[in-house]
Order: sequence, then structure tokens, then C-alpha cells
Amino acid sequence: AIERTFSIIKPNAVAKNAIGAIYSRFEAAGFKIIAAKMLHLSREQAEGFYAEHKERPFFNDLVTFMTSGPIVVQVLEGENAVLRHRDLMGATNPANALAGTLRADYADSFTANAVHGSDAVESAAREIAYFFADDEICPR
Ligand code: CMP
Repeated sequence: AIERTFSIIKPNAVAKNAIGAIYSRFEAAGFKIIAAKMLHLSREQAEGFYAEHKERPFFNDLVTFMTSGPIVVQVLEGENAVLRHRDLMGATNPANALAGTLRADYADSFTANAVHGSDAVESAAREIAYFFADDEICPR
């Protein structure tokens, strides 16, 4: 089925000047980028986005990292988009990311792992709505 997924290019990948390289990977993989913007998250925005992790030991470091510089957020649309985007990213822990995946190429650590992607269609809908108003999404 055609799905939408939510993607973040995290501060370490933006700092590496890798936005264009990562967008090229998305487009080469057949995704349509149907919404996009750059922003620098406040602590409140980052804590809200990652609320499901707030009891985890890495939460504070994650929020500090995600607010350390600008990020780029986008909505990707395509066949089986949630799973295909996860395959393109590679494992969450870059130590386990397969060669050729975005995390193998751009991650620095488990926290600074270059990219985020939704883990299911339901979380994608919630994450898209967290960052984008309906009129900021441009399907074509
Ligand atoms: P992300 O896909 O953005 O979702 C939550 C993030 O928390 C995850 O990527 C990692 O960057 C980070 N994370 C998850 N588990 C751990 C962990 N065990 N140690 C450090 N960071 C983690």
C-alpha cells in the first residue's frame, strides 16, 4: 500500500552538510518528499516528540542532542514507505547498521544516529501531525 512516513535528519547529519546526500538517497529509493522544513527544536518540542521514551536512561542525552542544532523534518510517501524507510536508515544502533545504510554512513553514536524514522503507520501519522499542519503537506 502507498504509505506516508515521518523522517528527521538529526543535528549531527545537518552539521556534516549531508542534507542533500540524504535527500538524494530518499529520491533514489523512490520516495516522494511531500513536506519538508528546517527547525531548531526547543527542549519542550523535543521532549514532547520523544515522550514515549521519557523514563528511559538515555532520554536526557537524547533531548540535549536533538536540541543541539537545526534538524530537517520531512514526510516521505511511497509503497510500503514505513518499512522501506527503516531499511534505508539501518539499525537504530549504528554499530548494527548494515553497510550502505544511512546510519552506517552518517551516524556518530546511538544518540547521534543521523536520522529518525517512524516505526509504524500509526506512529507516522502522529509524528507527521506533531510537525506539519495539513496545508504543509503537498502530495502529487
Ligand atoms: P530514534 O529513531 O530517533 O528514536 C529514539 C532515539 O533514542 C533513537 O533513535 C536513538 O538515537 C536513541 N536511543 C534509543 N535507544 C538508545 C540507547 N539504548 N542508548 C542511547 N540512545 C538510544
